[in-house]
Amino acid sequence: PVTMVTVFGSCNMDLVAYVATPPRRGETMHGRAFSTVPGGKGANQAIAAARGAASTRFLGAVGDDGFGTRIRAELVASGVDTAGLRTVEGHSGTAHIVVDDDGGNSIIIVGGANDTVDRLHDGDADAIADSGCLLLQLETPLRGVSEAAEVASRNGVRVILTPAPAEPVPESLLSNVDLLVPNEHEAAVLTGESDPERALPALLESVPEVVVTMGGQGVLYGNRAGERVRVPAFSVRAVDTTAAGDTFVGVLAAALARGTEITRALRRGSAAAALSIQRKGASGSMPMEEEINEFLERAAD
Ligand code: RIB
Ligand code: NA
Repeated sequence: PVTMVTVFGSCNMDLVAYVATPPRRGETMHGRAFSTVPGGKGANQAIAAARGAASTRFLGAVGDDGFGTRIRAELVASGVDTAGLRTVEGHSGTAHIVVDDDGGNSIIIVGGANDTVDRLHDGDADAIADSGCLLLQLETPLRGVSEAAEVASRNGVRVILTPAPAEPVPESLLSNVDLLVPNEHEAAVLTGESDPERALPALLESVPEVVVTMGGQGVLYGNRAGERVRVPAFSVRAVDTTAAGDTFVGVLAAALARGTEITRALRRGSAAAALSIQRKGASGSMPMEEEINEFLERAAD
C-alpha cells in the first residue's frame, strides 16, 4: 500500500508575543518575550507527520522573502518533501500570536502566499493521487481545498480535514472527506451543538469518521458503524498549546498511514500533542517518533 502522507495547505511565519494575560482592545502592554517560529496549520501537520516517521510531502506556497526561506528550511530539516512548495512573489503567510501564562493563545493569520494556493498547480494532482492519505485545513482558499479533496477521493486516497479556522464547510467538500477532525468549537460551528457527544452524530451524517479534539478533555472518535472511542488527555503542564491540534492530526495520520488501528493511532496523536504543549512554538515543539514511544512507555508504567 502507498503510505505517503501528503499535506495540501498553509504555511506561516508565526510572530509570537508571550504575555501574562492577553491585552484588551485599546490597551498597550509589555510582553515577556518574542519569537519567530515556522508554523501554519498545513506545515505544522506535515512536520508532525514527518517527525512521527511518515514519508511526507507538503504542497503549498511561500513568499520570496526571508520568512519563506526559513519556512522551507524548517520543512526540509524535518524530512518533508518540498518539491511541491512553490515560491511566489510577495510576502509569506504570517500568524500574529499572543500566548498567555496559561499557555492559551489568540491568533490573527494574514494569508500572503497562502492565498495563491487557490487551485491545484502543476504536479499537485499526481502527488495527491500517489498518496496514502491527504491532510487538509481551511487556511487556504476553499476552492483549492475542494479540488484537492476531489482528486484524492477519485483516486481512493483517504482525506482528513481539519475544519480550522472555524467556518461553515460546504457539503460538496464534506462529501469527499473520510475523516473530519474538528475541535469542540469548530464542531459547534458546523453543527450548532456545543456538546461534542451530540455534535459527533450530527457530523457523522456528512462524513464516515470523526474525531472531536477537546483539549484537556481528550479526544472523542466515532464512525458510522457505531464505534466510539474516547482517549483521555495525558495530564501535563501547558506552556504553549499553539499547534497542539496540528500535532495530533499529523501524528494520527502518520500512524494510520502505516496501518495502526484507530485506538492506538489516537493515543499516539494525543501523546504527541501532550509533548508539544510542554514546549514553546509551533513547529519547534513537535516530537520525534522515539520521544512519542518513550512517552507512551512511561505512561503505561
Ligand atoms: O494551528 C496553529 C497555527 O495556526 C499556527 O502555527 C499559526 O501559524 C496558525 O496558522
Ligand atoms: Na507548543
